[in-house]
Amino acid sequence: MNVSELEATARAIVAPGKGILAADESTGTIKKRFDKIGVESTEENRRAYRDLLFTTEGVEEFISGVILFDETIRQGSADGTPFPELLDSKGIIPGIKVDKGAKPLALAEGETVTEGLDGLRARLEEYRGLGARFAKWRATYSIGESTPSEYCVWVNAHALARYAALCQEAGIVAIVEPEVLMDGDHSIKASLKATRRVLQAVYTELHDQRIDLWGSLLKPNMVLSGYEASERASVDEVADATLECLYRHVPAAVPGIVFLSGGQSDEDATAHLNAMNARGPHPWQLSFSYGRALQAPALKAWRGKPENVEAAQRAYYHRAKMNSAARTGMYAPEMERDAVPA
Ligand code: 13P
Repeated sequence: MNVSELEATARAIVAPGKGILAADESTGTIKKRFDKIGVESTEENRRAYRDLLFTTEGVEEFISGVILFDETIRQGSADGTPFPELLDSKGIIPGIKVDKGAKPLALAEGETVTEGLDGLRARLEEYRGLGARFAKWRATYSIGESTPSEYCVWVNAHALARYAALCQEAGIVAIVEPEVLMDGDHSIKASLKATRRVLQAVYTELHDQRIDLWGSLLKPNMVLSGYEASERASVDEVADATLECLYRHVPAAVPGIVFLSGGQSDEDATAHLNAMNARGPHPWQLSFSYGRALQAPALKAWRGKPENVEAAQRAYYHRAKMNSAARTGMYAPEMERDAVPA
């Protein structure tokens, strides 16, 4: 294992002003996104959509890495250039989702454990050969009266650390993604408590399983009120609660924290990141690894039509630019008006 290479890659991913595009929707998830815009989820449509994102001119100013799905890392641009090669040529680091999804956790009604450890060593070797320099594994936790249970918190932490160790052995930066889901009517206080328990377990396991934290990144949820809560916490409250959680549980050795958007509106996700960076400097870079919050306007503009590709690229470029501004704490909602109309 080359520790300094891992650390250099992790630092490049969270370079100032840059963040990650999560374009690693599984075949099932991308179908849901396509259903909403009336596009059939064929292999060619999925390729064309990713092609549109990856060929957006100039976006490399704001995007340092892209997370791909197994199908996508094997696909290529219209001219035949493999996607990892295309991204590399723009200075964007290719990454890969390697978990096999959150599956029902035995004897724990309503809770999940993420699968995919069997055969992972061989898959990582193959993905590295295909150009991947970082990977992602997502665990999910729901907030309920008696959840997340200690059982769910610890089995997922254990699996996240086993995944991270295999990544580091393969010379691949591990993005560790424990996502406390924000569905429900819970308060921001409940969200803070659950996220604290989850992060405490994750960093205990990462330590016990000998992970080099300098060569890793954390991809957490922000601490929000439940989406159905009657009283929603403000941007400032979200920034304060999320930072409290991170300061208590994430070691300063971790180079960067790349938030997921988790179903927030695209502008909320930007405003929250901005408010946290405005309170900096922090021990870690605070950046983004957004799926929906970077792609929603682009999907809406595209609707599967070749004549809409340019409008979709403008929409994606604009969100990437807004989130880049949020990395410095200099974003303001008025900047949204500068968007080139789709
Ligand atoms: P969202 O930003 O849409 O939550 O997606 C990020 C991601 O990679 C989830 O695993």
